[in-house]
Amino acid sequence: MSHPTHSNTSGDHRAFDNTSKLVAIAIGVIAGVAGVVVGIVNPFMSNAASTEGTLIDDLFSITLGIATAVFVIVQGFLLYSIIRFGREEGDETDSVPVRGNTRLEIFWTVIPAIVVIFVGLLSYQVLADIERPRADQLTVEVKAIQYAWQFYYPDQDITTSELHIPQDRQVHLKLRSNDVIHSFWVPAFRIKKDVMPDRVTETYITGSELGEYPIVCAELCGAGHAVMRSQVVVESDANFQAWLASQGVA
Ligand code: CUA
Repeated sequence: MSHPTHSNTSGDHRAFDNTSKLVAIAIGVIAGVAGVVVGIVNPFMSNAASTEGTLIDDLFSITLGIATAVFVIVQGFLLYSIIRFGREEGDETDSVPVRGNTRLEIFWTVIPAIVVIFVGLLSYQVLADIERPRADQLTVEVKAIQYAWQFYYPDQDITTSELHIPQDRQVHLKLRSNDVIHSFWVPAFRIKKDVMPDRVTETYITGSELGEYPIVCAELCGAGHAVMRSQVVVESDANFQAWLASQGVA
């Protein structure tokens, strides 16, 4: 096989011409800017309405930030390699045989390991914080039935179809299903927990913003799955006590 002579060193003879490279870079820049804008504006997620939700959103932002940095670095190297080492037109020679690179392999094993351990420790810390019982904790038993939610307040011995909770007070939820597997989800609280027939699962919610937020079943549980909804009402302690009293009378 004959080696072509490199009389012309301009980029014109590369397999990727300059226009293609510029288009690729432009697409990358536009996608990058669009990603940052979507990340900041975030039209997909309402503001967290619970203390736990804020912690989880912060964790999500940190994880997304790390993932973005990794993506930009990896794609940057890829783009650089394509531009810098692209095959020149007419060059049919083999490239230099490469048999691994120990230093590089150690580098790309250790860095991801550190990142994963860091995110793991941070996640553990957030979970431990969420599940740490507070002194003024309120307990509510949640029962899932095809296709409705029931809430039982043991201290007052009342059952309701809507979950009311006082603002800024930790609520310990004990969940149990009457039939099949359901999933208790409050998107605004960033909390989702499976509800099972053979065991009690637990989770913690603390409503930080006054308002009404949807409770959704997030596990396909039968024909009525889509309508298995309720709502959680976060209200002032006075309103909560008044509501409890009104439920007791009924
Ligand atoms: Cu219950 Cu889906």
